[in-house]
Amino acid sequence: MIAALVLLVALTPAEKRGRELYFNGGPATAVLAGAAEVPASSVPCASCHGPDRRGVAEGIVVPPDIRWSALSQPDLEKPRPRYDDAALLRAITQGVNSRGDPLSPVMPRYRMSADALSDLIAFLKRDAPDPGLTDTSIAVATSTLARPVVAAFIDDLNKAGGIYGRTLHLADSKEAFALVGASDPALDPLDRVPAIAPFATSATPTSFALYADLTTQALALSRSYEAARNVFIEHDGSPAALAAAASLTPRDSFPRGDEDLLFLLGDVDVDAILARLEREHWRPRILAAGTRRPLPPGRRIARAAPTIPADITPSAHLELATFAERHRLPPAHAATQLATYATLKVFVEALKRAGRDLTRETLIAALEQLYDFPTGLTPPITFHRARRIGAAGAWVVGEEGKARWVRVR
Ligand code: HEC
Repeated sequence: MIAALVLLVALTPAEKRGRELYFNGGPATAVLAGAAEVPASSVPCASCHGPDRRGVAEGIVVPPDIRWSALSQPDLEKPRPRYDDAALLRAITQGVNSRGDPLSPVMPRYRMSADALSDLIAFLKRDAPDPGLTDTSIAVATSTLARPVVAAFIDDLNKAGGIYGRTLHLADSKEAFALVGASDPALDPLDRVPAIAPFATSATPTSFALYADLTTQALALSRSYEAARNVFIEHDGSPAALAAAASLTPRDSFPRGDEDLLFLLGDVDVDAILARLEREHWRPRILAAGTRRPLPPGRRIARAAPTIPADITPSAHLELATFAERHRLPPAHAATQLATYATLKVFVEALKRAGRDLTRETLIAALEQLYDFPTGLTPPITFHRARRIGAAGAWVVGEEGKARWVRVR
């Protein structure tokens, strides 16, 4: 029984190639209404029929549900008989349905090799349930550091009856339905595993993070000190710091002066930079984000912070303290505990909103609907289709030590 289930879940190599075509188009051509030809990669199936094949309504055009469970049944309303391989092939290449009636011109006609077509059809005929999900259970994976908190949290949740009749349990990330408090760069983006973590570490399109990333922090700083004459950037070369640097506009003109801004992004060598400024007798205002080394007091330094203690409400603080005590969580990892607990609250909220009809796609859609969701422990969380960072801004702590919340979007 278990073996049969595993077989059912893993995609064959042909189905995987078909999935790539479905999501990204691959080496195929799409013929649009009016006979214009474009690469299929600019109009992949998923852009209209959705990652879960249920159809993404755009304006008045509603691309139909093309899950095999729907196509393999006759549709009495349209009407059309059930699809088989040959009918599916004709729909894709000639734009006619299983009755031979022409489909709307919105649906492109595709040209691809016979092998590619058979891969795509193999994938379309496969309605695999999401791995790690059954009617009674949800498997989640997490990191070693976050594990004690996640285990304790889901223990409480299961004792209270689970969510829509499903209990949660921990699993390896390869078998999990979703990742919580962790991300895994080894995940195939096409598996669309929802991953919710405190900080953005992985760039898969289905990874969500609660706290401001380096780019959001840099933008918060830049919005606070806009009028400067020159803008300089020092970064640590990491992808996150490079992205943050790209969001700023450096300006460099002489003479250099005290109103200049110098951004420090990521884990740069603060001491070496300060020593150099000293030698050059140049005192720009320093704006730091993500620096790990301590910044010296008494200079004109402002720094960005994804969170400050004021984000924590008294009731959430009490809730977390009670939870930690009840489960005897070690006090040493208080920051990880807090961030993981907040992440779990977001995860559970999205699970509840996705409801009984849970799939990876309905969970992702539920996360994308969160708007100013209060965790009580972090800034409010808002995601949408193009936004995977929950915090809408960052704190800017000025040289006088006062923190201001700066909204970035
Ligand atoms: C630009 C949007 C768009 C893209 C891209 C697209 N489709 Fe469609 N598709 C539609 C629309 C709209 C219809 C409904 C046409 C109608 O009802 O007349 C449709 C209909 C279909 C149907 C017929 C369903 C039925 O019930 O008869 C199938 C099968 C289908 N599409 C498969 C695909 C596949 C496979 C791809 C990628 C190779 C794809 N579509 C790409 C918009 C799109």
